[in-house]
Amino acid sequence: SKEKIALFTIFGGTGDLAKRKLYPSLYRLYKKGFLAEKFAVIGTARREWTDEYYRDIVMDSINGLAESYEHAAEFASHFYYQSHNVTDIEHYSTLKKLTETLDEKYQLEGNRLFYLAMSPNFFGIISQNLKDGLLLTDSGFNRLIIEKPFGHNYSSALELNEQIRASFAEDQIYRIDHYLGKEMVQNISAVRFANNMFESMWNNRYIDNIQITLSESLGVEERGGYYDTSGALRDMLQNHILQMVSLLAMEPPTRLHDKEIRAEKIKALQAVRLFKPEDVPHYLVRGQYGRSTVNGEHFEGYREELNVAPDSQTETFVAGKIMIDNFRWSGVPFYFRTGKRLAEKGTQIDIEFKNVPLNLFNDNSDEPLPPNVLTIYIQPTEGFSLELNTKKVGLGLETETLKLEQKHSAETTANSPEAYEKLILDCLNGDSTNFTHWDEVASSWKFVDIIRQAWDNETIDFPNYPSGSMGPIESDLLLTKDGFQWHWCP
Ligand code: BG6
Repeated sequence: SKEKIALFTIFGGTGDLAKRKLYPSLYRLYKKGFLAEKFAVIGTARREWTDEYYRDIVMDSINGLAESYEHAAEFASHFYYQSHNVTDIEHYSTLKKLTETLDEKYQLEGNRLFYLAMSPNFFGIISQNLKDGLLLTDSGFNRLIIEKPFGHNYSSALELNEQIRASFAEDQIYRIDHYLGKEMVQNISAVRFANNMFESMWNNRYIDNIQITLSESLGVEERGGYYDTSGALRDMLQNHILQMVSLLAMEPPTRLHDKEIRAEKIKALQAVRLFKPEDVPHYLVRGQYGRSTVNGEHFEGYREELNVAPDSQTETFVAGKIMIDNFRWSGVPFYFRTGKRLAEKGTQIDIEFKNVPLNLFNDNSDEPLPPNVLTIYIQPTEGFSLELNTKKVGLGLETETLKLEQKHSAETTANSPEAYEKLILDCLNGDSTNFTHWDEVASSWKFVDIIRQAWDNETIDFPNYPSGSMGPIESDLLLTKDGFQWHWCP
């Protein structure tokens, strides 16, 4: 049977993430039979809630997904609420009692999954108290899922990791990067390793450059308080972008299993060139959105947003060039850009292949042919395109670019599993392929810290791009000075 057996204890059970992502994902797994009779959920947070109230909240959060009211109520009946102060060891004995009661009631075989969906300040103390409060089981599994951010630089991440590792082993820790749960991010490996046509060309002899764009049209919304201490570099580059880079750059693993894949990702990240502080301006561009009016709609600038300092130096945009110093990638720039309040919401990867040695099709000029480009559309569109040069119909020998395109239908996209659904199921299966290993976190922070420090040493004239654009002009110059252009220009 595909049924998974576990007790979920969610710290931050009243929070936004739990309501928006976790409860709906658990319900999807329930609908598909991965969760059935033998599961229970304890939601914890400071406030006092009754089980009844909690179940109503859970029912609300799956509204729209539910097969029927009865089915939703049946699902919600597995949920229990426990008011809890994470720093008070006494509270863990109450939690332990409830844990044991539910373990017996639902025959959970001692399988425990602890989900930390709250402020990272408490990750260390919670893991310690789970151990000291004897909540870890000997009979089943103990697994810890942690949300981002994992530290705010290398040393804070190291400290956090040491705190957690005092109670949980590396293979019990599941560090979430929700990009790894995305359908099309998981497809990177399929494109590479299921197609000889690509894998044989996946190196510096045939690839000219790679471009990764994570563009968001929204601003910081209500998250100004968090975001103003983070910025795009920590919020997006340290995790999501470097994770995508590692999947694009890694050597083929011997098997598609967590141990083998992560070993290759770690090696790729360790080969990323660490910049000298004085080189940072040459490789990185930062930006912050200013107010503007787009199609009659007015947008505030970042500094006018809620909980943001009026003279904030926080970047809401970052573009850069990553170099990977190994045999496969030497000399191939991996360009990336990400930002808030850009022209469009969309994530895509463009892989530009090198040109043929000579353009035989154009006698009159030295114009090179347009490059072959493989595009992986991550979201909201999911799919691929491949641009080829072909002969234009007619008497001459002119060429034109043909775009082969396959985009998942709206229906397929709507029915594809949610990132959190996949990741929770992976964790239940003990499969950590799509979670970040500590060594990946460590390498990523070392790369990011150098940039952060260089930037912190210099004040910059912000804002420098209008809402609704694709970032500051310097982002375009980053490529043009190397003879390239952003392939995607919304
Ligand atoms: C999060 C960032 O990790 O990713 C947010 O904290 C960002 O600032 C979000 O908006 C983007 O995720 P997605 O899935 O909407 O591309």
